Amino acid sequence: MSSVLAEIQTLLEAAGIESAADSQLLLGHVLGESRGRVQALAAMGSEISAEDHQKVMRLASERASRVPLQHLTGRAAFRGIELEVGPGVFVPRPETETVAQFAIDALLAVSPPEPIEGHEVDLLHPIAVDLCTGSGAIALALAHEVSSARVWAIEKSIEAHAWANRNVDRLGGGRVELLLGDVADARHLLAPLLGRVNVLISNPPYVPSGMVPRDPEVRDHDPELALYGGEDGLDLIRVISRVGLDLVAPGGSLVLEHAEQQGAAIRALLEADGWRLAATHQDLTLRDRATTAVR
Ligand SMILES: C[S@@+](CC[C@H](N)C(=O)[O-])C[C@H]1O[C@@H](n2cnc3c(N)ncnc32)[C@H](O)[C@@H]1O
Repeated sequence: MSSVLAEIQTLLEAAGIESAADSQLLLGHVLGESRGRVQALAAMGSEISAEDHQKVMRLASERASRVPLQHLTGRAAFRGIELEVGPGVFVPRPETETVAQFAIDALLAVSPPEPIEGHEVDLLHPIAVDLCTGSGAIALALAHEVSSARVWAIEKSIEAHAWANRNVDRLGGGRVELLLGDVADARHLLAPLLGRVNVLISNPPYVPSGMVPRDPEVRDHDPELALYGGEDGLDLIRVISRVGLDLVAPGGSLVLEHAEQQGAAIRALLEADGWRLAATHQDLTLRDRATTAVR
């Protein structure tokens, strides 16, 4: 098995892919084993069948042609959950896991206390909205990690919505409501929630239209609708700011993911629209990645 891993890695490195994780995850996918188990089996000197060898090398050559790993395995890990993904939907990114934390913290801060056994408690459910939900990653992570929360999610692309639908069915626990539609129509789509939302989060398309991503996995496989946000990348963020003012309750939070150089412009547009306490936050690599504000 170690020699197969080395063979895959050589193929991937020749294609400019450095990750040893990719080799282990591809082999794990073929064998139906976790990455950790693949490492353990390799360390113990296990062998694989000729058939599995052939299967994994076929996947490795697809990966070498820069098909995203997650399209080959059909899965993407996001915080504590595993989403189904593939062509037509944006693959959730690790940096968004950090952005989601702001929404989780804000939701937990407004969550009711755990009910005490034997006592009737009138449960107030905190309400979250995830605009531009893609695979449903953020919406589902919120529902998964804040058990009292009710989450609404909107996605415009029919293909992405179909992936999100599958993920919501499997992982939503009946607490995530997925809607097909445009963020610009959110006031209408979410009419019962106007002025009641505790946390509004979005990882919208924010790449400026002239800045085509360098990585083939992104450029050639993430849907264009998921990437580009107009000339300065902020088209959708402007819409979300205005729609959000009508959705979010006074004192509620807005959380936006964005590109490294967009923090100042986003704070300015949010403040001009009437949001308070706009603040930009860095990710683990110290890049500006998220801006939060209060209604
Ligand atoms: C960058 S992706 C993020 C997906 C997901 N939230 C995540 O973090 O993995 C942006 C998503 O916004 C969707 N989208 C783009 N324009 C939209 C619009 N006007 N209304 C609703 N969704 C939109 C895209 O189809 C895509 O799924």
